[in-house]
Amino acid sequence: MRPVQGRRILLGVTGGIASYKTAWLARLFAQGGAEVDVVLTRSAREFIGAVTFEALTGRPVHTELVAEGHALDHITLARGANLIVVAPATADFLSRAASGRADDLLSACLLAADAPVLLVPAMNDRMWAHKQTVANVEHLRSLGYHVLAPDAGPLASPQEGAGPGRMPEPTTIFAHAARLLEPRSALAGKHVVVTAGPTREAIDPVRYLSNHSSGRMGVAIAESAWRRGADVTLIAGPLAVPLPDGVHTVAVETTEQMAAAVRSALASADVLVMAAAPADFRPSQLSDSKIKKGARPEAIALENTSDILATTRDARRPGTIVVGFALETDDVLVHAAKKLEAKDLDFIVVNDAREIGAGFGSETNRVTILARGAQPDALPLLLKTEVADAILDRVEGVMRGR
Ligand SMILES: Cc1cc2nc3c(=O)[nH]c(=O)nc-3n(C[C@H](O)[C@H](O)[C@H](O)COP(=O)(O)O)c2cc1C
Repeated sequence: MRPVQGRRILLGVTGGIASYKTAWLARLFAQGGAEVDVVLTRSAREFIGAVTFEALTGRPVHTELVAEGHALDHITLARGANLIVVAPATADFLSRAASGRADDLLSACLLAADAPVLLVPAMNDRMWAHKQTVANVEHLRSLGYHVLAPDAGPLASPQEGAGPGRMPEPTTIFAHAARLLEPRSALAGKHVVVTAGPTREAIDPVRYLSNHSSGRMGVAIAESAWRRGADVTLIAGPLAVPLPDGVHTVAVETTEQMAAAVRSALASADVLVMAAAPADFRPSQLSDSKIKKGARPEAIALENTSDILATTRDARRPGTIVVGFALETDDVLVHAAKKLEAKDLDFIVVNDAREIGAGFGSETNRVTILARGAQPDALPLLLKTEVADAILDRVEGVMRGR
């Protein structure tokens, strides 16, 4: 199921320039299947029209605390919400929320709600750095509000600095909202380590050996684990897809670097998911300078790189759940079952490299999950995001069974 589907989100918009981005956020929520009730402050109406939000959400937009026929809007809106998101949240709104004011509809909704509240500040960098704003944010966090730190980067006005103050992108806000809507998971607070993407093994300073892995599967797993409340370390080779929000990323290039990063992350890992496609071979000799066109070698001798699962096995803590991946072309299940035993894995996720719509680069995957002592669990062709959820559902099942 999509993360916001069927959920009711109260989306508050206050009077900042970044409110133009909130229209896109409203669309993401609505497209994801959420019911979105938009509350604009009076000031926000100077920046963006209610009609935009009404068209995007298919629902009426609210502004006034005392409106004809809607005397108790703040109570009904707040009580019906599974989540309240205020984006952008102005400095003034943060101040009102921190002092518990209720003299406009949006502030009153915050006081009447028992749903989680995500505040997304956006303002000039000096306003954000002001001690008063810092104190308001600290106080709001101590009250249990979730306050997203603004991004650094160019602000709306070209005269302004590039310090923190920019509203994060709508996709980032969506990811944080989805995390707050996620039901309590066995992965909450656990450390999940995920590897993703290919590695590269240099031939000379400009050429390398690698493979077609995009990193999409590993990124989907990292995203899903983070949404479930885990602290996620993503150990990533060069990816062809954007990095996910919220996760700690360790960028690596070679298989040896990936092995070293896995070893150090294993010291605190509760779960390790090896979704990367590390290069199995590297040139035996690395040329320090670019090999000239006229000096083409007849052959490139190769040697094996480290087997990451084997060489890091001694670094696993007892009880760490380990999920491996196997991409095979022949006798797929037989090879995978051997790997499950030999590498001491809890699960192995197998895909057939010859299957259309599965494997490298594609948005979909058809996998079979093998667990020790259990029948192979063949899943239908699914989006990689759905495969990621299916894998982590099984990991959670093991955790709950302990
Ligand atoms: C052009 C313009 C842009 C503004 N942008 C911001 C902003 O990005 N962040 C902010 O905190 N205040 C900004 N303000 C100030 C707020 O609009 C002002 O504090 C207002 O009272 C906020 O009301 P509200 O919090 O009820 O929406 C801006 C004001 C103007 C005139």
